[in-house]
Amino acid sequence: MVSASKQRDVTPPDGKLGVLLVGLGAVATTYVAGVENVRRGLAKPIGSLTELSTIRLGKRTEGRSPRIRDFVPLADLDNVAFAAWDPIPDDAYQSALVAGVLESTHIEPIADFLKSIKPLPAVFDQAYVKRLSGTNVKTGKNKRDLAEQLRQDIRSFKEQQGCDRLVMVWCASTEVFIKAGKVHASLKAFEKAMEDDDPAIAPSMLYAWAAIMEGVPFANGAPNLCVDTPALQELAEAKGVPIAGKDFKTGQTMVKTVVSPMFKARMLGLSGWYSTNILGNRDGEVLDDPESFKTKEESKLGVLEHILQPSVYPELYGAIYHKVRINYYPPRGDNKEGWDNIDFFGWLGYPMQIKVDFLCRDSILAAPLVHDLTLLMDLAQRAGMAGIQEWLSFYFKSPMAAPGLTPENDLFIQQTKLKNTLRWLMGEDQITHLGVEYYEYQRA
Ligand SMILES: NC(=O)c1ccc[n+]([C@@H]2O[C@H](COP(=O)([O-])OP(=O)(O)OC[C@H]3O[C@@H](n4cnc5c(N)ncnc54)[C@H](O)[C@@H]3O)[C@@H](O)[C@H]2O)c1
Repeated sequence: MVSASKQRDVTPPDGKLGVLLVGLGAVATTYVAGVENVRRGLAKPIGSLTELSTIRLGKRTEGRSPRIRDFVPLADLDNVAFAAWDPIPDDAYQSALVAGVLESTHIEPIADFLKSIKPLPAVFDQAYVKRLSGTNVKTGKNKRDLAEQLRQDIRSFKEQQGCDRLVMVWCASTEVFIKAGKVHASLKAFEKAMEDDDPAIAPSMLYAWAAIMEGVPFANGAPNLCVDTPALQELAEAKGVPIAGKDFKTGQTMVKTVVSPMFKARMLGLSGWYSTNILGNRDGEVLDDPESFKTKEESKLGVLEHILQPSVYPELYGAIYHKVRINYYPPRGDNKEGWDNIDFFGWLGYPMQIKVDFLCRDSILAAPLVHDLTLLMDLAQRAGMAGIQEWLSFYFKSPMAAPGLTPENDLFIQQTKLKNTLRWLMGEDQITHLGVEYYEYQRA
């Protein structure tokens, strides 16, 4: 164990937390409906660390393992209100029906609640999401003006709902691939580009800018560049606002970041990893467009490189053939099937294979991540942790990290990082798993 640092000052989560969702599609409605079902005692928050996980404190012999919720001050579920933007005018009830994720047992009893969440007009441009069109869209004289309208929405929601604090999560479609360039390099260039309607400024960036300007923590659940730019990082630090991203780590990539550390831990080589998916929801339709898929592909491909370090282990990982495919297949709806064929090799180079067939439910896996992120981003804000929240990389496929740092992708290192950050926040010892103090030779 590493000795405790001083407990940080964390403002208590008094009053109401407002959750602003960009996009009111499958993930967002599964999340809000889930929270409401849990609040009414109709279902359990399975998959949520903040609701279910414990955290060990001190030595194994001390027997201290409180729930995370009882250890760190988190917002109470009964004190959470929701708002959303979407270019499609369906309220959360209608959208949940269209998404087809939840059964009527989880929708009908809370129909009034879901109908009360009506999407605000979105900042949306089809140039960035080719397969969607929407009618519930803002107009303005330029991108800066649109972003100012979002700021006004944020203030109005806060006032109308009597919220004390807010958090924003991007649960909207994956935008086309944009490479970070000059306009993202500094806040000054970024704000000028908003006024010039520069095509390198995507709608997701305008939401992120508006959130940070209003002092609202912002998490990005899609692989879009969005808040992952020097310009918005500069703004977040200046305004003291936490930011995090990118791309919820839910299905195939979650498995990949568990299986690939196993190869590395045992020094087994890898020659190929072929991942393919069939998916029939609106997300699948959007990702059927090559430009949106490119954004997703970049996010999914990076993890093996970071975990396996081919430059350090060229004989094991120097020649991996890594392929990721997503195929839009409507009959499956949100129930994705992800196949992985993994070709690896062992002692003296003898080849072996692992096949994974993951029949998952995309939004069922994503919803608890949205929930945890809202609570933990709010905690970070109350603890004065501004800028990139690398400790939340546990939730992301393509985690943001400080410039020059290699992101951590191994799920269990990410989990350790998250829990150690909570211990650090509360002035508890770090857990290193050394454990020599339990043995005679150390006591002698
Ligand atoms: N479900 C998962 O397992 C998972 C995992 C990782 C990432 N994601 C990402 O999460 C996002 C949401 O996934 P989903 O399954 O809910 O998709 P979805 O298509 O059901 O919902 C996305 C919603 O965003 C709206 N939207 C698009 N552009 C917008 C804009 N500019 N402003 C406001 N709303 C906008 C769309 O109209 C749609 O209703 C996608 O980007 C997806 O790639 C999902």
